[in-house]
Amino acid sequence: MTYPTFPENCTSMLCKHLTPELFEQLKDKKTANGFTLEKAIKSGIENVDSEIGVYAGDEESYEVFAELFDKVIEEYHQFSSTDVHESNLKAEDLNLRNLDTSYILSTRIRIGRNIKDMPLGASISKEQRDEIEKDVSSVLNGFEGELAGAYHPLLEMSQEVQLQLIEDHFLFKDGDRFLESSGLARHWPHGRGIYHNHDKTFLVWLNEEDQLRIISMQQGGDVVEVFSRLVTAMKEIEAKVPFAYSERLGYISSCPTNLGTAMRASVHIKLPNLANDMEQFKAIADKYYLQIRGTDGEHSQSKGGVFDISNYRRLGITEVEAVQDMIDGVIALVDAEKSLEA
Ligand code: ADP
Ligand code: ARG
Repeated sequence: MTYPTFPENCTSMLCKHLTPELFEQLKDKKTANGFTLEKAIKSGIENVDSEIGVYAGDEESYEVFAELFDKVIEEYHQFSSTDVHESNLKAEDLNLRNLDTSYILSTRIRIGRNIKDMPLGASISKEQRDEIEKDVSSVLNGFEGELAGAYHPLLEMSQEVQLQLIEDHFLFKDGDRFLESSGLARHWPHGRGIYHNHDKTFLVWLNEEDQLRIISMQQGGDVVEVFSRLVTAMKEIEAKVPFAYSERLGYISSCPTNLGTAMRASVHIKLPNLANDMEQFKAIADKYYLQIRGTDGEHSQSKGGVFDISNYRRLGITEVEAVQDMIDGVIALVDAEKSLEA
């Protein structure tokens, strides 16, 4: 492989940090699973509009290609190579302050998880992926009480049900070009599926970008209830399924943006006035470490002034701090929206 040519206007972290010198230094390296630099950067090369552009194929990728991943990690999470990751799952440490939930349509918190000692999705074999689906779905199918529900493999799902679940914001979308070029969508839809409880307030995606995405969500703005349910579910799953975790990087994920807590706490919130003042909107988002997504999630547009607002950083902060970033930022956004209304 030769040094890739990026277009002039490329802004991804990949084209920013992968200098010709760094490329030469890393291009012949390989992890024990055979994951290479070429595979790690394929998605960013094929999708030049990427924000990040790199994926890991296994936990070892973060060491073998550290000179590249660490730069992305440092820039994305404001996390330096000597920092260590810490956890706090105590809902009582959340400070709701004067959060006005009347603007919030729904609240969702998800974490990403991958199985200990397994390759990540970009270099896993079909057999290994199927084994994860079998083992994890059988653990989930045994859940009782509020978490009780059923696993639905994508292979057995009608197109109609699948589209409805996507439209209702419960299921991952199909045909994500970033995942497709990274190798994360190989053998799709085999091994993929969704578990959910009866109320669809607790959901688990299997074998999408990460092997598990554990989700708690509901209508309205009760962040503490959503967080508490997630923590309960996470502990129940963790008691039965061993996850990949590193002292320095926290929970290991396919994308370096999801390391650490692997947590994205979001609200769907209606901000029609701020939507017409994107400069102010973005300035508040930057100040409070927020990410602005559209109504249908990442890489989607806002519909009717509804945005998905979440914490941006996930590593080097605790779970409570990740959710607190979202709360503090939403308070500031609602204040600004009210001023624009007046
Ligand atoms: P992820 O959160 O898993 O990283 P996405 O941005 O693709 O990935 O979002 C997945 C789905 O979750 C999308 O349908 C998105 O609209 C939905 N979603 C995210 N936050 C909320 C929320 N607060 N309320 C309802 N749906 C949400
Ligand atoms: N690879 C995509 C990009 O660089 C997504 C990055 C962050 N999102 C994610 N789902 N991992 O734009």
